[in-house]
Amino acid sequence: MRILIAYSTGFGTTKEIAEKLADVLEESSELTIKIASLDQVGSLQTFDGVIVGSSVRADRPTANVRDFFSIHHHELIDKKVAIFAVCLSANCREGREKVKNDYIKQILDKYPDIHPLSVEAFGGKIDFERLNPVMQSLMKKVLQKTGLPDTGSIDTRDWEFIVQWGEMLKAKLLDQTVANQG
Ligand SMILES: Cc1cc2nc3c(=O)[nH]c(=O)nc-3n(C[C@H](O)[C@H](O)[C@H](O)COP(=O)(O)O)c2cc1C
Repeated sequence: MRILIAYSTGFGTTKEIAEKLADVLEESSELTIKIASLDQVGSLQTFDGVIVGSSVRADRPTANVRDFFSIHHHELIDKKVAIFAVCLSANCREGREKVKNDYIKQILDKYPDIHPLSVEAFGGKIDFERLNPVMQSLMKKVLQKTGLPDTGSIDTRDWEFIVQWGEMLKAKLLDQTVANQG
């Protein structure tokens, strides 16, 4: 089974999560994984499944993720689909639920014929030194809501949780029964 992991990323955080998920899925000899930036994805014809990873900007999946669904939604109907978002507010269970039920839902509500195997949100990372002043002030507003510090480098990715999701997804892609992840 051929699976594409297509990601959008500003600073590499979502790409690194996509790579970790690829490592987990590749443990199965039945899955062949290709990772690509969303902007480099053409036809989905050769893939049985597509996992879309989106970085979040200003309470929304990035524009290229929204464009990807707009372009490919017909093709995605017949494929195994999973979606994950990466952002700082997904650093706790409550934040993850908001990201899933609000940010990702903004996309899925538009395409009711797409039924993802799973949707998840993961904590993100930010390096203040890499942001220009406009982005820094945007981020400070985001961080005021999360209670995280608003200077330096913050990495809220929970790699164990990410690997667990990859394992659950692997089982679903292979149509195996899985225990609830909670
Ligand atoms: C301009 C900008 C806006 C952001 N807006 C949000 C936001 O609205 N909510 C949030 O939780 N995180 C927000 N973030 C944090 C990013 O989603 C987080 O840093 C993520 O890890 C970035 O992933 P990437 O490196 O793959 O782009 C924002 C980051 C930037 C730079």
